[in-house]
Amino acid sequence: IRKSALGAFAAAAGTAELESLRVRFLGKKGELTALLKQMGSLSPEERPVMGQLANALREELEGALDARVRVLEQEALEAKLRDEIIDVTIPGTPVTVGHRHPLTIVLEEALDIFVGMGFEIAEGPEVELASYNFTRLNTPEGHPAREWQDTFYLSEDSGVLLRTQTSPVQVRVMEKKAPPIRIVAPGRVYRKDEVDATHSPMFHQMEGLVVDKGITMTDLKGTLETLVKKLYGQESRVRFRPHHFPFTEPSCEVDVQCFQCHGAGCRVCKGEGWIELLGAGMVHPRVLAGCGIDTDVYSGFAFGIGLERMTMRRFEISDLRLMFENDMRFLSQF
Ligand code: PHE
Repeated sequence: IRKSALGAFAAAAGTAELESLRVRFLGKKGELTALLKQMGSLSPEERPVMGQLANALREELEGALDARVRVLEQEALEAKLRDEIIDVTIPGTPVTVGHRHPLTIVLEEALDIFVGMGFEIAEGPEVELASYNFTRLNTPEGHPAREWQDTFYLSEDSGVLLRTQTSPVQVRVMEKKAPPIRIVAPGRVYRKDEVDATHSPMFHQMEGLVVDKGITMTDLKGTLETLVKKLYGQESRVRFRPHHFPFTEPSCEVDVQCFQCHGAGCRVCKGEGWIELLGAGMVHPRVLAGCGIDTDVYSGFAFGIGLERMTMRRFEISDLRLMFENDMRFLSQF
């Protein structure tokens, strides 16, 4: 038994094999136990001698087994350490971290400014009814703004379309909520425009609407001047030009002075010195009344900012297309 056990221990390749050898030689049904069971057939003088021999053998085998287990464990550990060695001098795989798009940066800056002035953020659908996009904004059928060349209509009867402006959100807010109202509504708008440096069939606007008692053009001017100064710096100047929109009266367009204008060759304003930023005006009484608002008590102003324009001015970007091409060489500059 001793010889074959020690031989088997030494040959064992792993701890699992050793465990089965332990059972085979030292277990309750093992070879050594079987030997002890035969002790009954021995003479009384032989029994203690045989017992001592058997115990000594058990101790020896257990010791040998444990020693072998330790050797194998040590070998396994060393092999593992060898396999898993890390060469800290190999350069790592660079992780490229994403970041916000310039349009998103400026949108969030503008929203922060408006929220700071007490505005709430509203939203409306991009697939819109013509009644909200036009009719209820005092733009009846037959009005040139409703021409199919300009608008993506989605139904034969021209009743459903991709909104051409965020102004329908004004109506959606006013029909649900009574004044005082103070909201901004950013989102995508669509027009059948050819793509060039300043046009895209999809772009972004940010609508603003304030309706309360005693709202005047002064409130509109103050709000927009605050926006521009916070966004572009205290030294920025704005210019209000008379204009026409069906849903505001009076109406205006607002330009911001080109900041680091390089004169005639300026890539941002083409040497004009001013960049058109938004349309605005006092909400037309017909629009207010159409939403059930008493025009004897309430008045309001509205504006629609071009987000791409605002971003181009903010970062001095000369071509709107850059903002939609997702070229990393462009995007990683912001
Ligand atoms: N909706 C107008 C446009 O797209 C902008 C505007 C909004 C003008 C609100 C006046 C009031 O040009």
